[in-house]
Amino acid sequence: MKGLGAGMAIIGCGSATPSQVMTNKDLSQLVDTSDEWIRTRTGISKRHLASEDVSLSDLSAQAAAAAIKMAGLTPADIDLIILATSTADDLFGSAAKVQELLEASQAVAFDLTAACSGFVFALVTAAQFIRTGTYQRVVVIGADMLSRWVDWSDRSSCILFGDGAGAVVCQGIADHDHLLGFEMHSDGKQHDSLNLSYQGKAKTLKEGMVISQGSYQPITMNGREVYRFAVAKVPEVIEKALFRADLTTDDIDWLILHQANQRIIEAVASRLKIPAEKVIANLDEYGNTSAASIPIALDEAVREGKIQPGDIIASSGFGAGLTWGAAIFRWGN
Ligand code: UT7
Repeated sequence: MKGLGAGMAIIGCGSATPSQVMTNKDLSQLVDTSDEWIRTRTGISKRHLASEDVSLSDLSAQAAAAAIKMAGLTPADIDLIILATSTADDLFGSAAKVQELLEASQAVAFDLTAACSGFVFALVTAAQFIRTGTYQRVVVIGADMLSRWVDWSDRSSCILFGDGAGAVVCQGIADHDHLLGFEMHSDGKQHDSLNLSYQGKAKTLKEGMVISQGSYQPITMNGREVYRFAVAKVPEVIEKALFRADLTTDDIDWLILHQANQRIIEAVASRLKIPAEKVIANLDEYGNTSAASIPIALDEAVREGKIQPGDIIASSGFGAGLTWGAAIFRWGN
């Protein structure tokens, strides 16, 4: 569908999280940890974990359906679906499956992988299609099920992650652009800090021809490195995105960071001199849901009536890659 080609508005949001809840106390039965350690070091009390019969595509479609409904549209109105995930049901991609579940018959759908920066990167990608007039109505989903890939015997990482999906609907508009500014970065030099890597073994197909066959291995993480990176880079990337938007931190109504660690959130807010009342955080309930954390937090705050149409939101995702980015946007039409 030919769009209006000027800018975009974010007009709907939705989220879906699994019903199974794993508390810190539950985790202390699994590994040598305690509720006190986890809460004071991370701010997390619980995480929601998908059961065996729930797929990433299911959660993604539920979140997207809620966002489409809030936008006052139907799935048949959607031109493009971008699914930001690192934990697709299928390595070939899960976005087309989500399209089928939604019955979004007109949409083209593809996956985008940028770990915990995935939602911000996908939102910026959506904006490029809308600004060029290629597509007018785009669903951006951030969804991950890291419970599938966590090493449940590694106390330094298994305490952090939860499963979930969040989505927004972006629409082309004629006279404004509510994606006010953005900035994206990656640095492969620190790639080894956080991995969910393929590991293969040599397999000989014929004499002189050896290939690799194997599978993905559980998450490995250097927590301190990732922590240091986040606290250094996130304030910087938000400031750059604000500069592009011709705004200052005083203009921000709400700060929604990737929900990785409450201490990271507080350190970033303090460096940017953003008061605690403007900071949205829900990792107490969900832990780190990777690409889903920003849209889940956005959806909750919108449905609670905290975020109002016209509010300016500074969001920032950061994580494996390493990747990091920020998007400054105005909520609503
Ligand atoms: O989406 C991005 C994903 N990753 C992140 O956001 C990770 C960012 N990093 C972090 O959030 C923090 O580094 C962690 C929460 C992972 C760890 O917190 P920390 O304050 O950096 O702890 P640490 O790794 O420096 O470990 C301190 C101590 C160690 O014991 P020793 O060597 O001082 O005796 C750890 O063995 O805490 C120990 N420890 C634990 N103790 C109880 C590590 N994990 C646990 C645990 N329970 N779960």
